[in-house]
Amino acid sequence: MHLSYKEAKRLSKLFKESRFTEHKDKLFGACRVFTEYQDRTALEDYLEEFPEIEEEAEIELERIEEEKTTDPFKPYPHDEDLKYIDGQIKTGCINEQDQMAGLNPIDFTQGVFICGMPGCGKTTLGLSMLYQMLNANCPYKLKIIEDTKPDADFLIKDFPDTKILEFKDLYINPWQVEDWDTELEKMNSVVEILSSTMWMMQHSGLIFKMAVELAYKVSKDTGLPVNFSMIKTQVTAAADKVGLAGFDYKNALDHINFICETFIQTGKSMNAHYGFTIENLWNRHHVILNLMDESSPYIKSTLVMYLLKEWQRYNEKHPLPHPELRDLVYVDESRNIFPASRPHNESGHDPNKPLKDWVGSRRSSGIGYIVMTQEIQSAPDWLIDNTATIIGFPIHGENRDKFLRVANLDEHGGGYQS
Ligand SMILES: Nc1ncnc2c1ncn2[C@@H]1O[C@H](COP(=O)(O)OP(=O)(O)O)[C@@H](O)[C@H]1O
Ligand SMILES: [Mg+2]
Repeated sequence: MHLSYKEAKRLSKLFKESRFTEHKDKLFGACRVFTEYQDRTALEDYLEEFPEIEEEAEIELERIEEEKTTDPFKPYPHDEDLKYIDGQIKTGCINEQDQMAGLNPIDFTQGVFICGMPGCGKTTLGLSMLYQMLNANCPYKLKIIEDTKPDADFLIKDFPDTKILEFKDLYINPWQVEDWDTELEKMNSVVEILSSTMWMMQHSGLIFKMAVELAYKVSKDTGLPVNFSMIKTQVTAAADKVGLAGFDYKNALDHINFICETFIQTGKSMNAHYGFTIENLWNRHHVILNLMDESSPYIKSTLVMYLLKEWQRYNEKHPLPHPELRDLVYVDESRNIFPASRPHNESGHDPNKPLKDWVGSRRSSGIGYIVMTQEIQSAPDWLIDNTATIIGFPIHGENRDKFLRVANLDEHGGGYQS
């Protein structure tokens, strides 16, 4: 048997496309010797030994092409492909042999987004991943934020070290400075969050910041950590210092008093003097934060933003020598926590700015996320664009178009998303 160069090239392409080289080691070797060294002898010997192989490969290739017309995802990933999509945490079966795809902990630092219609299995997949992580005694800490349904609460039965916290159980003082932190960084961080989530514009933003500074001064004398009640007592003094008068003065004052009162009304949940510390509570346990009972979206978004940012600041102050997953933030039904709203038209104010910054910067401090929602439309672009793994269940309508774009699918491939 003698093969021309052209013929050998055609055959090795045929064997590869028909996936024969994946299953037949000897054929794989022969094709490789040809592609790498242009040596045709091994391929010639193989064909001499198995003369029917070319025809078999052609039939198989035809079958594969035929399959593609009915399902563009076929042939499903096999052996070689698996190493790119497998990992410790299994996400599901991906071929006829029930081989599993999965993700490794480090993959979560690049973000995972799951979308699909109600009832398609998003929550089941998410909870299965969490269960596998806890079952494997994961060293990273799960931070599960429940906004609409307490689906993850059952985990506590098998993993009693997991803590479920409801809003009313919280003791939080966002202003409390922990040992690892400085007063200035703390103050700037929380003021920035509140300015965004509570819509503080130019005047109120400045007066609020000054009131906070005055409250920290008072706190030095009294020894009691600053909280919203203490800030509220300094608002008039701060406004007088700025020297505003008239409508702006009254407007800013009313707004800041309203903000302080909003948090004072939460009682110890967010106006404690001594709250749970990041160091002792949030970073030592897996936590399920259950926010269903809190109705104010302002309070919720401030609280969530505060925690996300503090976890990140804590990690940044305690860096690890190698990149690894340290905290995994899990949000099912994410539309309120990660809203797709745009900056305010006239003022340009963006209440989601701290969240946007967090999504873009938290990876280097080892914070990963799994975020799930029904429609991809209800998730902001800045979240999707920062997410490396997107798992899509069947969807249709406007969301389908957006999904096709982010999943790089054409209309044909998209046929299987309907
Ligand atoms: N892989 C699966 N195989 C069989 N049933 C499933 C699977 N995933 C989910 N289900 C079932 O489908 C229903 C809806 O699942 P769920 O995860 O709550 O969907 P979603 O969160 O997308 O609304 C549940 O009754 C669940 O048990
Ligand atoms: Mg669900």
